[in-house]
This record gives sequence, C-alpha cells and structure tokens, in this order.
Amino acid sequence: MTRVIATINLKGGVGKTTTTAALGEFLAAEFGQRVLLIDLDPQTNLTTMMIGERRWQELNESGLTLAALFLEAVESVGMRFDMDKAIQVNASPVNAVRGVDLLASSLDLMEIQEGLSYRQYAEPHASWPVEVLRDAVAPVLDRYDYVLVDCPPNLGMLTLNGLRLADGYIIPTIPDILSTYGIPQLQSRVSAFAARTGHTIKELGLVITKYRSASSVHRAVIDQLQRDDRIANVVPAWIPEANQIAAAAENVDHRTLRGKYGGGERFDDLRNLTEDILLTSRVLL
Ligand SMILES: Nc1ncnc2c1ncn2[C@@H]1O[C@H](COP(=O)(O)OP(=O)(O)OP(=O)(O)O)[C@@H](O)[C@H]1O
Ligand SMILES: [Mg+2]
Repeated sequence: MTRVIATINLKGGVGKTTTTAALGEFLAAEFGQRVLLIDLDPQTNLTTMMIGERRWQELNESGLTLAALFLEAVESVGMRFDMDKAIQVNASPVNAVRGVDLLASSLDLMEIQEGLSYRQYAEPHASWPVEVLRDAVAPVLDRYDYVLVDCPPNLGMLTLNGLRLADGYIIPTIPDILSTYGIPQLQSRVSAFAARTGHTIKELGLVITKYRSASSVHRAVIDQLQRDDRIANVVPAWIPEANQIAAAAENVDHRTLRGKYGGGERFDDLRNLTEDILLTSRVLL
C-alpha cells in the first residue's frame, strides 16, 4: 500500500523542503521504505538538493522534469511525457541511502503554472488541471511505500495537483508568531478542496522546525499550538535549528546519513521525527 504525503505551508522558508528531504532519506535508510520524492516547487530546491544543478539542467533539456508533464497538459497535446525515464532512481547524494527516487521540478514551471491557472479560469468546471500529476503518477505508485510531495509556498495549481494526489499532509512551521499565523485558514482551504474533489486528505500534523530551545517565544508558541483544538496533532519530535541541517541543502556526496547530518543529536532528532510520521501515517492513512 502506498501512502502519499504532501508538505505544505503558505509561509515561505519554514523548512518544508528540508523536512521533505530528510523524511525521504530517513524513511528509506532507517526504516527500509521505498520512497518517491516529487518536487512541485518551481524554485527546484528539493531537486538540486538531491541531484545538483548540472544534472537538473540535463534533465530539463531532455524534457524529463515535471515542466514537460505540465506543459503537455497546458498545450493539450497527447501524453508523451516518459515517466519511467523521468524518475531518477536512487537520487539521494548519500551513498548509503538506497530507495529514494525523485521526480524533478523545473524553473520553467513558473511560467507553465500560469497556463494551468488560466485553463482552470477558462474552464472552471473542468477538474483535469488539478489531476495532471495524479493521472501521470498512477501507473508507478505501487512501486513505493511513501510518496512525499514538496509543494511551493502557495495554494496555486501546482500545490493543488499535489493535494489531489495526497492521502495526508504535514505542515512544517517555525514556532513563532508570524509563521504560525494563518494555519487554521490553510487547514480549512485544504478541507474545502478535498470536499470539492471528493477525496479525503488527512492532516497528519504540524512539524516544528528551526526550534531554538533558548527562545521563550518558541516555547510559548509550541505550548499554544499543543493546546489549540483546531490543530489535530503537533508531531512530538521537533527539528532544532542547526548548522548541520542547513548544510544538508548543499548537494555534496556523503557516505552515510550520519555523515550528512552529524552522528549525534541531529541525527536522532530527524530519525525520531520520521518515526513519529511513519507511525501516525500508518494509523491515519
Ligand atoms: N532545522 C534547520 N536548521 C537550520 N536551518 C534550516 C533548518 N531547516 C531549514 N533550514 C534552512 O532554512 C532555509 C529555508 O528552508 P527550506 O528551503 O527547507 O524552507 P521551505 O519552507 O521549503 O522554503 P520555500 O517556502 O521557499 O519552499 C534554507 O536555507 C534551509 O537550509
Ligand atoms: Mg521549499
């Protein structure tokens, strides 16, 4: 059985991509799961973290990024996108991490997403613009235990494509006042979208990112979030703000995950987070 989890937040820079990458690598390396990462963000951060900029460019020139898939949809040409070729097998730069595949994003998606939005505006009752990704991924889904979809910081057509495919979602957030503002609105918009498309998207929880134990604001905001009955779950393992986690954004080879994230506490924090999400998703999805 495949579980599809989207990473969303309207707020930018809260650790969505960093969390998605770490979850994918830990699910595969520490828990033996087969993982597909899907990068829906035109910023291509997850893509370059995994395969680097040069490889991305080669893929982009060969029409093997999601830009090619969505362009076909916008131009209404027959499906020529080659999913099997587009999937980058064992995409993690960590040698010891096997079983993390990637569907790459593209900077070209910035323009293409406007075309998608226009389509929806022109044909408001057509559901297909939000089903492009789901239809394309359907034939390969059963190769994976987990599909993790990294979304851009908005609820535009690309994110809606991710939500249409998703069984559940997580919301990474920095535990400060401005970052947590608007979370209830995000939840209700996801519910409204799910109701419109007639499928269930479960909220797996808020993931606390860039946590600073010395910050009284961080402590107080986490307390508030845990008591807020509009929030289903604050995932118990919090991700601290740490240099090693920031450095994971760089596409450099590592032999092991401990080499990438440091052998000590940072590794344990990310492993605990992955275990929490694994268990919650097994119960809820
Ligand atoms: N736990 C952490 N400790 C230190 N730095 C972090 C941590 N998590 C993320 N960062 C850094 O913060 C920045 C934003 O993180 P990231 O790109 O994951 O956020 P995002 O929510 O995906 O952003 P966007 O909305 O632009 O997609 C990056 O430079 C990243 O390396
Ligand atoms: Mg991101």
